[in-house]
Amino acid sequence: MRLAELTTFHLGGPPQSLTPARTRGELIEFCRAHPLGLSTPSDTDVLFIGGGSNLLISDAGFDGHVCLVATTGVVVEETSETEAIVTVEAGENWDEIVALTLARGLSGLEALSGIPGSVGATPIQNVGAYGTEVGELIISIEVYDRIAGQVRTLTAAELEFGYRTSALKRAQQTSGMTQYLVLSVSFGLRRDAQSLPVRYAQLASALDLEIGQTAPASLVRDTVIALRKSKGMVLEEADHDTWSAGSFFTNPIVSDADVLPVEAPRYPVIDPLSGATIEGKTKTSAAWLIEHAGFSKGHSVGEGRASLSTKHTLALTNRGRASTEDVLELARTIVAGVEDKYAITLEPEPTLIACSL
Ligand code: EPU
Repeated sequence: MRLAELTTFHLGGPPQSLTPARTRGELIEFCRAHPLGLSTPSDTDVLFIGGGSNLLISDAGFDGHVCLVATTGVVVEETSETEAIVTVEAGENWDEIVALTLARGLSGLEALSGIPGSVGATPIQNVGAYGTEVGELIISIEVYDRIAGQVRTLTAAELEFGYRTSALKRAQQTSGMTQYLVLSVSFGLRRDAQSLPVRYAQLASALDLEIGQTAPASLVRDTVIALRKSKGMVLEEADHDTWSAGSFFTNPIVSDADVLPVEAPRYPVIDPLSGATIEGKTKTSAAWLIEHAGFSKGHSVGEGRASLSTKHTLALTNRGRASTEDVLELARTIVAGVEDKYAITLEPEPTLIACSL
């Protein structure tokens, strides 16, 4: 088989082996069969795949063992009149869990509706959209520590969430190892049919609200899904604009806002733990930079096999016959174009496996 079957990009060559893990026992068994020692320089021979929505895998495939995390299970504990803790096994589908919590009258996750992928992947890069980051709702996660060979609980504070990052992602990037495999995630939600205050201007305006006002959480969900659909950010097999990994680049954060073009959008950077604005940091829009560097929606390479989405400049897409190399070529062209015009280097947001920009 090709890993293309497991990724939303529909890209990636074959693995050496593929093991589905449907229970926690099977997941831990896979980890034990592929141990990680302190002296192991990196574990380039093991790859865990959840929803496959944030991966770009090389055409040559992955020369190692792939574990498909397919564990299931949800426990809802109503801890007080106003609060509940929802604990979800890593392999559950993210959007089904969002829908389930809302159907149970629990709010908090509504702005994160319609995002592809699995629950276990969300804490690693602190998935965010429409004014909410998952790190704000996470109380703790359970992980399997592949070096110590035991299950551990990590609190939200220990996870040190930032914009599209966490302690887990930083550790993976520096060591090249997946020491902690996410087993389950516990969310602290409110027993309230009303949403959290709406913080994203585009969402507030679609709901006809001022920033900071609330709405029925199910209405916020429906509105977010409609917005995401308009940008090609809800998976749909027949629509090649959704054969992507969502945003391909992170929105650049600069310490000196004067380096940004005067007309470029400027957003505050928020600390997910405290909700406070981080002073001295400004986030801009990668989509804006790409468009103003001369790449319009639909811009393509490889005889049209890979292109920017026709609905959103920030998504690189496979038009059906693309190779990973086509997508990488498109990405490199865009990084170079934005660098030339604005001296800002865009960073890829998905995880690149056995390939690089
Ligand atoms: N813009 C353009 N062209 C476009 C789209 C957007 O110039 O085609 C500019 C506009 O100035 C617009 C601004 O970009 O006001 C922001 O656009 P949008 O609201 O679509 O957000 P984004 O910054 O492009 C981020 C996340 C998305 C998330 C949306 C909504 C990142 C890297 N991306 O995109 O997350 O859904 O906000 O909150 O932070 C993902 O990470 O995969 C992802 C889809």
